[in-house]
Amino acid sequence: MPGQKQPEYVVPTDERGRKAVIDVRNITKIYKMGDIEVPALRGVSLQVYEGEFVSIMGPSGSGKSTMLQILGALDQPTSGEYYLDGVNVAKLKDTQLASIRNKKIGFVFQSFNLLKRTSAQRQVELPLIYAGARDRAKRARAALQAVGLGDRLRHNPNELSGGQQQRVAIARAIVTNPAIVLADEPTGNLDSRSGTEVLKIFQEMNRKQGITTVFVTHDPFVARHTDRIVMLRDGQIVADQPVPDPIEAGTVERPSESAELESLFKETYYADRKEKVS
Ligand SMILES: Nc1ncnc2c1ncn2[C@@H]1O[C@H](COP(=O)(O)OP(=O)(O)O)[C@@H](O)[C@H]1O
Ligand SMILES: [Mg+2]
Repeated sequence: MPGQKQPEYVVPTDERGRKAVIDVRNITKIYKMGDIEVPALRGVSLQVYEGEFVSIMGPSGSGKSTMLQILGALDQPTSGEYYLDGVNVAKLKDTQLASIRNKKIGFVFQSFNLLKRTSAQRQVELPLIYAGARDRAKRARAALQAVGLGDRLRHNPNELSGGQQQRVAIARAIVTNPAIVLADEPTGNLDSRSGTEVLKIFQEMNRKQGITTVFVTHDPFVARHTDRIVMLRDGQIVADQPVPDPIEAGTVERPSESAELESLFKETYYADRKEKVS
């Protein structure tokens, strides 16, 4: 604001010198339902640095969707601060929020959210049209090529598989060169083969193009494809750890539910006498 002295915001960096794209400081979100207040986030602080690939996990009702909405500038926190790529989001009005979303964020949704009877090429051009960008056709084609759909430019969603539709959605998310891609259960509606295909694209975009990516998922198998897992419970972060050996998409079969239960059971009950169990 002109003429008004603000304490200058300094973008935090990690030990590798990477800047924080997301810098959330002690945010809360309280939903008001009549007289009842529902605290969905209760003091969350989180930094996500350039080039990171993070998943946010937690049981149902732990605040994941609320968190993603705030990170995506779709909603404002009740209190606390949020800096997105250096911009203080909490100070913005609705129209400014819409503009920052368009410039800085690419969204990928569980249900793809593509337009019917609209070609892949056109879907990917749309955010560029809103942004008033140039070279739209060329950039849309390049984004579709990057997700392996260079030969499906004129296909409508009903002519594409679920995995291909989600790849169109990913192309649409990255075409504006956003600071960050946010994805809400991006493989939730896909069979395991298509899910793997989509995870592979996310990993490639992150590793080769350095696209900062945050997933919300309740699926531990999906989360283990990312580099860092943040755990939410009752609106607070209860764990935040690197994934020791992230799964390369397509190299590991999803463990069956019973296998996962069994390994959990062994680790939980027989951790101190493993040799007798296996
Ligand atoms: N629009 C809303 N109005 C009132 N309460 C809400 C609203 N959205 C979410 N909540 C509540 O906030 C808490 C966190 O919800 P949510 O962020 O959707 O969790 P998750 O995505 O992890 O399941 C829950 O108790 C939920 O009932
Ligand atoms: Mg949710």
